[in-house]
Amino acid sequence: MNAMMKSDSYPLLSESAEEPSRAGSSALSAWQGGTLTCLERRDETANSASFVLVASESVRFDFMPGQFVTIGVDTASGRQYRAYSISSSPSRSETLTITVKRVDGGLVSNHLLDHFHAGSQLEASAPAGSFRLDPADVPESIVLLSAGSGITPMMSIVRWLRDCRSDVRIHFIHSARSEADFMFSDELLALSQQANFRLDLFLTQPEQTIACHTGRLTPEQLDALLTEASDNADRRRFFLCGNYAYMAMVEHWFAASGLPVEELRKESFTPAELPPAETSGAVFQLTVPSFGKTAAIADGQTLLEIMEAEGLPIIGACRSGVCGSCKCKVVEGEVERISTETLTPDDIAAGYALACNTRAHGDVIVELAV
Ligand SMILES: Cc1cc2nc3c(=O)[nH]c(=O)nc-3n(C[C@H](O)[C@H](O)[C@H](O)COP(=O)(O)OP(=O)(O)OC[C@H]3O[C@@H](n4cnc5c(N)ncnc54)[C@H](O)[C@@H]3O)c2cc1C
Ligand code: FES
Repeated sequence: MNAMMKSDSYPLLSESAEEPSRAGSSALSAWQGGTLTCLERRDETANSASFVLVASESVRFDFMPGQFVTIGVDTASGRQYRAYSISSSPSRSETLTITVKRVDGGLVSNHLLDHFHAGSQLEASAPAGSFRLDPADVPESIVLLSAGSGITPMMSIVRWLRDCRSDVRIHFIHSARSEADFMFSDELLALSQQANFRLDLFLTQPEQTIACHTGRLTPEQLDALLTEASDNADRRRFFLCGNYAYMAMVEHWFAASGLPVEELRKESFTPAELPPAETSGAVFQLTVPSFGKTAAIADGQTLLEIMEAEGLPIIGACRSGVCGSCKCKVVEGEVERISTETLTPDDIAAGYALACNTRAHGDVIVELAV
């Protein structure tokens, strides 16, 4: 194993002082967002680190494995917001851990990896997201498919299952470049020796220091690895997180294999491109009365683009219609909502929209207060 790698010292419950907790079992109130302080930084690989965070008051971090938080940090380019999956388990509810991988030229990932240490603080929203394992609806068997930093929500799922439901079978199929890029390697290699846990690791540039498949994961390999899964009558659920090409390949394989689509949960970390806009070329007016702002908006342009350009205090953390940070209210006007992922039917009926995924097709009046 590469000498730069540090083991993720996530203790087994038997070594941990803290007992596993389930939502509602603790007398402490659930954390609803606010300032968090870094208790500990753990370097996972040369280009990634976990940050163990605590709140200033005694609270319980209540979330479902797989969910994320939206954080705000002050960088050299001002306050920036991004979404990060929680990599710790809600069964260890005193702390919340995020794990960040460096993105070339990326503002926030580089800021965190270069400047964020024990004692540093950030702002975070309450945990959210529909990519999650509901503790009330756990299947007999789980297949986790991740590539690169897509491993982080899987770790929360694995850690929670190991703490609270060790009867559930886990098949973890992970892809990375090399051993040096394999996050949580020590923990996962140790788990792979346990019952009910199978690890299939795919490395494109292996250094041959650990047992792995060489090369990219292919549909043929998925067939070979998961034939048993598709033939078996057990209830299985698949969780998928990785880059665009990886996810497209797995989704295509999933559909071609005739597996039930409702058993596939997926999340993408990279900003998704919106489908091309059908535009008449017309220019409309966007008004935000509470800020006294009026601006031109082209037919088919997103509300977020214009509100950011006008300096309005709207947060576009994921720009993919996933995190909900850009929620706003369309008071009047014709809009096209592309993603409504975090909105309830009542929200939509009341006019709420995700500004990053909402296009104007007429004059529009918007309120930011939600
Ligand atoms: C729900 C959700 C959960 C996420 N969880 C995690 C997590 O657990 N760990 C983690 O490291 N990241 C995670 N991300 C990605 C994270 O939010 C940031 O997008 C990422 O850290 C890059 O931010 P940045 O400010 O460094 O780069 P930016 O300054 O925003 O972008 C720089 C360039 O990199 C591209 N880019 C942005 N994100 C990525 C990416 N992930 N991979 C490759 N290129 C990218 C951008 O398109 C841009 O061209 C998650 C994203 C979402 C939506
Ligand atoms: S920025 Fe995340 S939903 Fe719009």
